[in-house]
Formats: sequence, structure tokens, C-alpha cells
Amino acid sequence: MRILIADDEVNMRKVLKAMLVREGYDVLVAEDGERALHLIREKAIDLLITDLRMPRRDGLSLLDCVRAEFPDTLVILITAHGTVDSAVSALRRGAFDYILKPFDQDEMKLVVNKAIKTLELNRTNIRSEPVSVLQTPEGRYEIIGRSPKMAEVYQIIAKVADTPSTVLITGESGTGKELIATALHEQSSRKNGPFIKINCAAIPKNLMESELFGYERGAFTGAVASKPGRFELADGGTLFLDEIAEIPAEMQVKLLRALQESEFERVGGIKTIRVNVRIITATNRDLRREIELGNFREDLFFRLNVVPIHLPALRERTEDIELLAQHFVQKYNKRLKKQVENFSAEALNCLRQCPWQGNIRELENVVERTLLFCDSNIIRIEDLPEELRGRPSQTKTAEVGGAISPLSMKEIVRQKTSIIERDLIVKALEETQGNVTRAAQLLKISRKGLQLKMKELDLRGNDDRGEDSNGDE
Ligand SMILES: Nc1ncnc2c1ncn2[C@@H]1O[C@H](COP(=O)(O)OP(=O)(O)OP(=O)(O)O)[C@@H](O)[C@H]1O
Ligand SMILES: [Mg+2]
Repeated sequence: MRILIADDEVNMRKVLKAMLVREGYDVLVAEDGERALHLIREKAIDLLITDLRMPRRDGLSLLDCVRAEFPDTLVILITAHGTVDSAVSALRRGAFDYILKPFDQDEMKLVVNKAIKTLELNRTNIRSEPVSVLQTPEGRYEIIGRSPKMAEVYQIIAKVADTPSTVLITGESGTGKELIATALHEQSSRKNGPFIKINCAAIPKNLMESELFGYERGAFTGAVASKPGRFELADGGTLFLDEIAEIPAEMQVKLLRALQESEFERVGGIKTIRVNVRIITATNRDLRREIELGNFREDLFFRLNVVPIHLPALRERTEDIELLAQHFVQKYNKRLKKQVENFSAEALNCLRQCPWQGNIRELENVVERTLLFCDSNIIRIEDLPEELRGRPSQTKTAEVGGAISPLSMKEIVRQKTSIIERDLIVKALEETQGNVTRAAQLLKISRKGLQLKMKELDLRGNDDRGEDSNGDE
């Protein structure tokens, strides 16, 4: 267990360090908040013991950073008598515990031991808990989610990944079907073999057969050379047939035979080709309904549905929304070179209450778009897209039509107006990839006017470099 002590008083650092080293812990020290944060990012710290008042970042701000970036690290706050309020607020912000100054060593030992016990427990729990993050050594994909519904999915993956059984993945659009298909391949002993994807919806009907099974030279006009199909390319690996419901009827028969016999012929060919391929398919349609409608063959369905995996819609696992949102914040911080740390409680609440028709993909897009325009390190509710904020239950600021707000009418109008303005500007900037001049043209206002508004609303575009080539006004 590694403990970091952050305190600006040199004696306090010395005494605490000596005591904890004696207890057998690996102890680091920092003389101010920035230095502490630096160490936390550099080394894996299990427990942070921090003073409240410190130069270059106080204990509460440090606590917030740690909670956002390293949620598994526990934080104990040391605070002087008379600042019990900040201790309470620290607990509310996720501190593990606090200690009031002056304290004796036994008291400190007690709290530290309690923290260490908790850490140990957390660890064993995580191990016996279903995996929430599946990661290859190359870190190629991560599946986020700890909800019971996802736990079931992880269990199925663990059980069937390394079998040759055909898997049918169902779920609404954006629920992660492709991600799960990738996970199945990566977790199998075929992982060094090819993973070949084919989106059946994207391939014209008349080309489907040659796409899947390949063709011989002269099979049709334009077939000047022979070409292997996806089945052949996937030999020794996995073939992922996405949007399987879109496959035309006559191809369904051929596919069924290829699946049952593991053999087929190229278009225009006579030689029978045998392959060793694991098939995974996915659809966001209800295949049973398609069978009833006569669009999908029942025998093919049974052949594909050997292991069904159904992915829950995001609204059925709201407990994962925070985890996912934070995951995407990290992802787009890197990509967009931002330093957003967390969401305000109100913003998180808003995210939890959204219907998320587009599921995780929609959430990801929302986070990306929000980060793009967010200039502070906390995402507030005002930073979220208007269409999310618009639901009546959470516009607390100024609810026209609800209970009468304590704000003056003028203030309400001002707030509403700036929300509308902000949205229009964000949309225009999106449309023009952040080009202020073109966004101003779209909005039919002057470039200067737009720049002023953006400043007022704390928004940023790409081209505020001062070059005024368009010389508007
Ligand atoms: N559990 C998850 N953890 C992290 N990211 C996820 C998770 N599920 C999905 N995603 C991400 O959400 C996006 C959409 O996922 P994916 O493309 O797998 O969905 P899909 O079900 O195949 O959607 P569609 O039906 O529209 O093809 C991807 O960027 C994916 O990485
Ligand atoms: Mg997909």
C-alpha cells in the first residue's frame, strides 16, 4: 500500500511519515497541492492524506481531482478545528474520512487502518465482481459498465468466447454490439487469427454473394481476376456479420449451407472451399418478428442464435451512465487536449434522466460535443446540449410554467435567452467546424458581434487568431 502525505508543514510531514513507515507502508510526501497531484498522476497512490489549507491547490480541490481521475484512491482530509464545515463538505465530495487538528498518533493510525481495510476489501470485491473493463494487452477496447445486466453479458462472454459456437448479438443501435463482437474474438484462442467484419446493410444485394464467398475470374463482367471472399479471409479467425437482418432471401439459403457445412464455392467456381471460421452476427431488429413477416428464414435464425447475447439499452442501466460519461471524458480530453475533470452533480443528474435513444453512441457524441465547447474543468448543466437540458424535470434555474421561481422575470428571460443564444452559436460553430467568420454569416450577425457573444457565453471557435481577412462589419 502506498500512502501520500500532502501538507505544507514540514514537521507534520516528518511525524506522519515516520509513523506510517513504522507501520510498514510505502510513504511519499508533498509540500503543496500541485506537487501532490503530480505525484498522484505519476505513482499509483492508494491513500492520500492531505491538509486542507495548502499553497498551490488546497485539499478540497485536490480531493476533487483525485475523485475524478483516480476514483479508487481513498482520501483522508486533515483540517483545523473550526473548519468542520469543510470537513463535512469533503465527505460529501467523496473523502473517505477526516481528522481534526490537533490529533494524536493513535487516532491517525485508527483512521488509516480503516482506510487500508476498505482498500483491501474493495480489491477482493473487484476480483470476485464481474469484469467491468475488458482490455487486451494493447488496450484496444474497453467495455465499461458494472450494472447487473452488463454483468450477465460479461459472464456469457467469459463462457463462450473460446468456443466455436455461433453468437447472435441483439440490442438497439449504439448499445455496443460491435464492441462485444470484438471482445468475443479477442478473448478467444483465435485472437491472433483474422477478425473480418462485414456490414450486410452496406453491401448491394447483387454483390453479397461474391463479397461473402469470393468469385473466379470471368464469373461476371468486371471479374477480371479471381478474388477470395470474406469467408476465406476469415479462415482461422472470426467473421462478424453485422446487420444480419438485411441479408437478401436467396443469400440466406447459401449462408445457411456455408454455416452448416463450413464449405462453399466461389461465384463462378466449381471447387469447394472449406474454412474454419467462427461466426458472430448482430442485428438491432427483432428477428422473430422478421420471421413472422416472412423476411428471415427460421432455420437460419436457429443456426445463428446458438448463443444469444442481448445488450440492454442505456436507459435500462442508468447506473452505468456516470462511469461511461467519465470514460468518454478521459477519451476526449486526450483527443481534444482538454482538462475536464468531472461533471457537476446537476449535470450528472441530467445525463441520468435522458432517454438515450441512440444509447452509448449518443452519450459518447454528447460528451465529445460538450468537451469541445467546455472551457472550465467541470461540466456544468449549462454546458450540456439544449435538447438534453430541455426536459422539464431538471431545468431548475428558471422554470417558466412550473412553480414560480424566486428569480426576477428579467433574470429568467436573460437566462433563457442566453441558453437559446448559446445553442444557436454552438450549432453554427459545429456546422462550420468552429470557423467564426462563417458561423457569423450563418447566424446573420457581424463577426465582431459573434465574437463578443462568444466571449460573454464563454465559447471558443477556431479562428480567433485575429486575422481579419474577411473584414466584415
Ligand atoms: N460498454 C461500453 N463501454 C465503452 N464504450 C462503449 C460501450 N458500448 C458501446 N461503446 C461505444 O459506443 C459506440 C457504439 O458502439 P457499437 O458500434 O458497438 O454499437 P452497435 O450496437 O454496433 O450500434 P449499431 O447498431 O448502430 O451498429 C462505440 O464507439 C463503442 O466503442
Ligand atoms: Mg454496429
